[in-house]
Order: sequence, then structure tokens, then C-alpha cells
Amino acid sequence: MAKAIVGLQWGDEGKGKITDFFASGADVVVRYQGGNNAGHTVVVEGKKFKFHLLPSGGLRGKKLVIGNGVVVNPSVLIEEIEMLSGYKTVDLMVSDRANVIMPYHIVMDGIDEERLGKKKIGTTKRGIGPCYADKIARLGIRMGELVDEKLLKERLEVIFSMKEKIFAAYGLRFDMEKIFEEYASYGEKLRQYVDDTIYYLNSIIDEKEILFEGAQGFLLDVEYGTYPYVTSSNPVAGGISTGAGVSLRKVEHVVGVLKAYTTRVGAGPMPTEEKGRIGEHLAEKGGEYGTTTGRKRRCGWLDLVAAKYATIVNGIDAVAITKLDVLDGLDKVKVCTGYEYDGKTFDRFPFSIRILQDVKPIYEEFDGWDGVKGKKRYEDLPIKARKYLDFISDWLNVPIEIISTGASREDTITIQAD
Ligand code: IMP
Repeated sequence: MAKAIVGLQWGDEGKGKITDFFASGADVVVRYQGGNNAGHTVVVEGKKFKFHLLPSGGLRGKKLVIGNGVVVNPSVLIEEIEMLSGYKTVDLMVSDRANVIMPYHIVMDGIDEERLGKKKIGTTKRGIGPCYADKIARLGIRMGELVDEKLLKERLEVIFSMKEKIFAAYGLRFDMEKIFEEYASYGEKLRQYVDDTIYYLNSIIDEKEILFEGAQGFLLDVEYGTYPYVTSSNPVAGGISTGAGVSLRKVEHVVGVLKAYTTRVGAGPMPTEEKGRIGEHLAEKGGEYGTTTGRKRRCGWLDLVAAKYATIVNGIDAVAITKLDVLDGLDKVKVCTGYEYDGKTFDRFPFSIRILQDVKPIYEEFDGWDGVKGKKRYEDLPIKARKYLDFISDWLNVPIEIISTGASREDTITIQAD
């Protein structure tokens, strides 16, 4: 059967560590959406590993699958395979249906951002949006085509005939032959990994343990997030069925990863953002700098209005609270339980980003604590921190299964369900 790990905020919840934790009991770890806009950090024996495209379970020596819903930058994939192969045998399968990020996607991502000026999304400029746009417009190249020179050539010819005018409108010219040669050589290197992952996953799902690893977070989902300040894929648990070809009925446990506070990279509303001392504390203590772009993340208090919305839509069975130790040393800890706007209060996450930009968060305040860092048993956590955790669990009406109290694998508390 299968488990899923999904982010409940704007990404960077610490999913890499939680996935790595669950990966120990899994046979296969699968990514189902996004691309190398993601950045998963796993710390093993004091050494930091950063992956952007490969699922996090690689360091556990598990079988890795990149599902059809992922967009693949082939040169990044080759690099990561080489990096991982220095430590573990790489047992990888990449869906023949996954779309390929092409050089023009990356260039156009950058130009789109520039053109948006003040309204820019703050993308990772990895070509994610333009690649998904081409997929939907039926102008994509899939991995199964990348690894077959004849098909690759055919697709490139069709795409160039359709897109050359668009390139020109961007002031761009691309040399199709050069792209063909470069990408055919990537195809050559990746051919051994490309296969039908849909039949594979469905053939093993009743006997083996599959772990689906969401990238980004629910509030960046193109459908449910703070549109247009979102990514172009579906990090929501429902994305598993379209992004990996596996029925959600086979996913028996969905774990939502919730950082003990909120962060966001890039533009868009974030009601609980703290720009002063608190924001600095969280950014510095939490090391809140992007794994992919190095950008400083915006930081603020935990937003339970957003988390509740995420919990409902993802069908969360249990929550993993990450980075609780980062709140150590604060006098007061706040958590948002409602919004105030235009004289009204409410606790539903609104559709309108304009409203979201202007809401005033309603906070519940807790006494601060110290001494969470490195704790390995729930009983050893400060009572005040436990109060905070109980409040979150009650409010979301979901049990907390894991608490992360530091970056290492060992700094993890697990709570057995009653
Ligand atoms: P894109 O995915 O590069 O198109 O970026 C769209 C938005 O999603 C931007 O605000 C990015 O900062 C954000 N984003 C994309 N990937 C991640 C991630 O892995 N963590 C956090 N934010 C992300």
C-alpha cells in the first residue's frame, strides 16, 4: 500500500527530512509533480545533501520513481544521479510520460518574470511554468521521446513550427539542431532509466510499500493556492492520482508536514508575515534561505486558517510538525486562528489574494519556552511547547505523529496513535 507526504504551507516545510524518515520503511519513493524548483535537504551523519529532482529516499538506497506529473530537466537529473551514485546504488525509474524542461522554457521563465515587473511571481526561474504550459498546450516533449532520437527530432520540428513566432515575439532565436544534439545526448544517458512507471507502480502497490513525496506545498498548488502566486503543478495529495497514475484509494495514510511557523519564498500574500525582530529570529535560527535559489525566505507565525484549509483538502491523517526548536528562546509564541477584514472576522481561507493581502490575523498567544532542540521523547519537551502542540492538533482535528526538534535524523520524536 502507499503513504504520502505533502506540504501544508508554501513549501520548505521540511518535507525532505520527514520523507527520509518514512523512507526507511518504504520500498519505493515517488515524486509526482514539480521539477527542480524543489529543494530537499537531508542531513546524514552531519553531512548535508541537497536534491532538487530525485526523490529524497535516495540516501536510504530505496528504489526511486519520477512520475508522469513531474517536469524533468535532464541535465539536472544526470548531475543528481552522478552525485547519488557516489554514495548509493542508483535504482531509478523515470516515467516515459514526464515532460522535459527545454532551454527555451528556462529563458522564457526569466523573461516573463521581468515583464511582470512589480507583479512578478518570484519564480525559481527553472522553466517550470513554461514547461507545464507547453504540456497543456500539447507542445511538450516527453521523456519517452527524449530517449528516442527519431521521435525527439519529430517533436522538435512540430514544436519549432508552432513556437518560432512566439520565440520571435520574445526576441529569441533558438538553434533547433543544437538543441537536438544536446538533448539527444541527454537521452542517451537517461535511456536506461526511462520506463512505464504507471504499470510498474500499480503492479507492486499491493505487495510493496510506496511513499509519495510531494514537492512545494499546498498553498502553492495551481488549483488551491494563492493564485497567481503559485507554482504550475498540483502538490495537493490529489495530484498523486494524476501525477503518478495511482488511485488515491491505494494511499492509506497522508501525512501533512507543517512547520511550527510560516515561511514563503517569492511574492504573494502571507497574512502572518513578521518583518521585524520575530521574522529575523525565525530566518536566522531556522536557516531560512532557499535550497534552490538561496533567496531569504519571508517568515512569520503559524497560520492555522491556512493549515486547516490544507488539512481538509488533502485529507490529512496525521501531521508532522517540523522545526519546533526554532521557536526556542522567544518570550511569546503566536498562532493565527482567524482573519479580520472590513470589520468582519472569519476563519476560512479566502479566494481573493487582495483580501488575503489586507487581512489582519487574529492571534492566540502562548508563553514562550526553551529547550526543545535535540529532544527525542515527547515527555522531555517543555510543557509550554506541548501546550502549543496540543492546541494545533485540536484546532486541526488531526493527530501529531512526528515532531522534528533539529536538522538531524536523530532529532525526531514519534508519537504512536492511540
Ligand atoms: P516556480 O515553481 O519556479 O514557477 O515558482 C512559483 C512560485 O513557487 C514562486 O513563489 C516560488 O518561490 C515558489 N516555489 C517553487 N518551488 C518551491 C519550493 O520548493 N519551495 C518553496 N517555494 C517554491
